[in-house]
Amino acid sequence: MIKKIILYIPLVMYASFAFAATPNKPTSTGAQSATAPRVLIAYFSMLDGNTGDVARAIADASGGDMYRIRVAQPYPQDDKARKELLTQQVEQNIFPALSGPTPQISEYDIIFLGSPVWANHLSQPVKSFLHNNNLSGKTVIPFASHSGGGRGRVFSDVADMCTGCIVDTGGWSSWGGGRQRGIAKWVDKKLKQHK
Ligand SMILES: Cc1cc2nc3c(=O)[nH]c(=O)nc-3n(C[C@H](O)[C@H](O)[C@H](O)COP(=O)(O)O)c2cc1C
Repeated sequence: MIKKIILYIPLVMYASFAFAATPNKPTSTGAQSATAPRVLIAYFSMLDGNTGDVARAIADASGGDMYRIRVAQPYPQDDKARKELLTQQVEQNIFPALSGPTPQISEYDIIFLGSPVWANHLSQPVKSFLHNNNLSGKTVIPFASHSGGGRGRVFSDVADMCTGCIVDTGGWSSWGGGRQRGIAKWVDKKLKQHK
């Protein structure tokens, strides 16, 4: 019952959803230096909203490449159908198929991995991303956006799923999107820590 309430409340509060299934590839800012660690910012965000805002702030601060994780089968636009599908995916821990191509993970040293909080956990598309890609040996720094419930278990979910990765659980979390005060300093600290 409590689990249902935890899932239902944010579903009702949540107003923005992504419906796009456009093929996908990393966007380069052209700002990566030849000597510094190579950075990828991979994230899922329904309508490229809140988590997208955090991802863009991290890209601005790091000069890293951005990759938006997208589901192959777009989430329905109809509210009821979408809620039903999301509830089913979360409750049954279904990993939805993603649209390709996937980024060349071998080209990167540090991966900032972003997800909205879903029912206190990592969103299902980001679980799919971790399931589909071998990130072993990479430094993975999670970040999350939520609607007031906090980051939940998102960072520990990444640590649990990312076999062989160096997961920095001192990630960034944000209530909603918009301007991320202090994020440039945080990114700088993380890049120095993991160089
Ligand atoms: C299925 C689902 C479950 C959610 N569960 C939570 C939650 O447990 N706690 C919370 O604070 N927000 C929850 N939310 C709200 C989102 O985490 C929040 O709105 C987030 O910023 C959305 O990011 P996005 O715009 O990048 O998709 C949930 C949203 C959805 C769709």
